[in-house]
Amino acid sequence: MDFTPTEEQLAVQRVARDAADRILLPKAAARDISMEFPVAELKELAQLGLLGVAVPEELGGGGMGPVCYSLAMMELGRGDPSVAVAVSVTNMVAELIANNGSPELAKRWVPGLVDGSLCCGAFALSEPEAGSDPAAMRTTAVRDGNRWRISGTKQWITCGDRAGAMVVWAVTDPEAGHKGITAFVVPAGAKGLGVSRLEEKMGLHGSSTAQLVFDGVEVGDDQILAAPGRGFALAMMALDGGRIGISSQAIGIARGALEAAIRYAGERQTFGQPIIKHQAVGNMLADAATWLDAATLMTLRAAVAKETKQPFSQLAAMAKLFATEHAWKICDIALQVHGGYGYVRDFPVERALRDVRVTRIYEGTSEIQRIVIARNLMRQA
Ligand code: CAA
Repeated sequence: MDFTPTEEQLAVQRVARDAADRILLPKAAARDISMEFPVAELKELAQLGLLGVAVPEELGGGGMGPVCYSLAMMELGRGDPSVAVAVSVTNMVAELIANNGSPELAKRWVPGLVDGSLCCGAFALSEPEAGSDPAAMRTTAVRDGNRWRISGTKQWITCGDRAGAMVVWAVTDPEAGHKGITAFVVPAGAKGLGVSRLEEKMGLHGSSTAQLVFDGVEVGDDQILAAPGRGFALAMMALDGGRIGISSQAIGIARGALEAAIRYAGERQTFGQPIIKHQAVGNMLADAATWLDAATLMTLRAAVAKETKQPFSQLAAMAKLFATEHAWKICDIALQVHGGYGYVRDFPVERALRDVRVTRIYEGTSEIQRIVIARNLMRQA
């Protein structure tokens, strides 16, 4: 694929790169230790339009496409991936509501997600017993007069304790399998909604990951996305797009780590020369740079397919699989090149290795991406 970015795409990339350098990078190491949630940073990113890149302009978004979004996520992932993940979920939730909510529902929630006044969004799909297999969810929404009552537990919810609005999936027709799952918009502070646990994670310390309990949370028909029973397909479609975002985030993390390793290898001397001149080190960096380039092209190809309304589920799965698996390897190489210095906090690569690890897990594990790819191959055979 020949990818030549347009002026608009380059402009978004510049804005995100500048935001990463100015707003995120200077505090990323400190945030890893303080674990402070980036409230102020999300507001600043919102003012730059980065919480709703592909959201329609009439709802306050940038009205741009998935390529702009991907390029922005690569930059923010390099700046601070723990902020980038909140940006990614907010973009995904804002787009989901904008494209599938009634005009009133979209007007009620999307502008606040995009302008940062709701802080961020959350995507409440996974459960303690249903992560890779969301069709097995147990959370129910039961009819109560002309309302619904949501009860159940959601797990691994990025920004679940901070989001001003979230999309929550629940079984509304237990007899109908995945066709009995419905997506609702639920505001923060809804009666019966509680945070039962905040996870202590290996990385992404500036982001929060919550377990949420829904104890009869009341919602109306006007909070349903698309229609009752359409929730599972909506989740799958949103995740196809979300996977381009996570792939981009992983590329950003790996790019930051690789740049640090190349700098270090050019400065650090052993046996009378910079270590980059030793073939063993040069070869590792050459492999890492090649993987990074391939991952970037695959991710942009998936984004172009989405933008031009072609099928992109398989392309997004392939991009996420390749980019996140190789981003992990690239960060490991970057650490190895730094030697003992790579293992301590003085250099950014140990944090990169911890932060990048989850990209092989969330928004569909690598194993799930292989399932998606293999099923598409079967359909094409
Ligand atoms: N787009 C639209 N529809 C889709 C679809 C897609 N990509 N994939 C499946 N569907 C539809 C199918 O067409 C089918 O509909 P019909 O019955 O009408 O034909 C229906 O969904 C069921 O399809 P499958 O039988 O293929 O579904 P499945 O239960 O076997 O699951 C799966 C398929 C792809 C493995 C899916 O379970 C999956 O993606 N699992 C991973 C879940 C995941 O990524 N979770 C991440 C959680 S969110 C997160 O991490 C966010 C965060 O906070 C960072």
